[in-house]
Amino acid sequence: MSEKFVVANWKMNGSEALIATFAPALQQGLAAMNGRGAPRVAVCPPAPFLHAMAGRLKGSAVQLGAQNVHPEPEGAFTGEVSAHMLAELNVAVCIVGHSERRQLFGEDDEFIRAKLMALHQVAIEPILCVGETLAEREAGEHEAVVWRQVHAALRGLEVPGDLTVAYEPVWAIGTGRTATPAQANEMHALIRRVLSEQFGDDAAARIGLLYGGSVNAGNAGDLLAQPQIDGALVGGASLKPDAFLAIIHHAKR
Ligand code: 13P
Repeated sequence: MSEKFVVANWKMNGSEALIATFAPALQQGLAAMNGRGAPRVAVCPPAPFLHAMAGRLKGSAVQLGAQNVHPEPEGAFTGEVSAHMLAELNVAVCIVGHSERRQLFGEDDEFIRAKLMALHQVAIEPILCVGETLAEREAGEHEAVVWRQVHAALRGLEVPGDLTVAYEPVWAIGTGRTATPAQANEMHALIRRVLSEQFGDDAAARIGLLYGGSVNAGNAGDLLAQPQIDGALVGGASLKPDAFLAIIHHAKR
């Protein structure tokens, strides 16, 4: 992948007031990089703020992202949001399979697969998150776990369509502890092999693989320099425009 991809996952944080300062600051920062290899950028605010963020990002290259979707197109699913609804809001990308949803909301591989298929139907690009827990890594099961998560989410899919995969080791999320660049690169290489087996080498090479887990301005340079790391999925550091822009700078071509 020649162009890196940097994604902000605000999780359950932010406000319209934050959007009002964040969106212009981000656009100004990107404009200042103009013509100098600015990476692809997306921002995923909480669902109630998608509309406000869309308004503030209008006319800019920054893409709008959602953090979650329900697999069914409509119906009695109180509190849920469908892929069609996200498409109406001009959402371009959507996170699925985040470890917080797997762990806190009991989402399993099959449910995540259904979400991914629903997004494909409306041409929203899934950002499929995978990653092992600390116990799984310490037991030496990290490769098997991630292999299973990728494989299960993509089962039955013949062509990947627009797809991004994010490797987020659970032990590195919000902990200040990152995978070393070498550890992350190794896991990305494994994910690339799973994608190659399913879609062939050429298609797999075109799928962006993001690293997520305590990415900040200090460690982004080394992580993004790894050959298998095509970008970053950023949590905490994506809530401040300066910190997020500093990461984006490291993703310049
Ligand atoms: P932090 O960057 O806060 O560790 O969060 C990572 C993450 O979960 C992004 O989806």
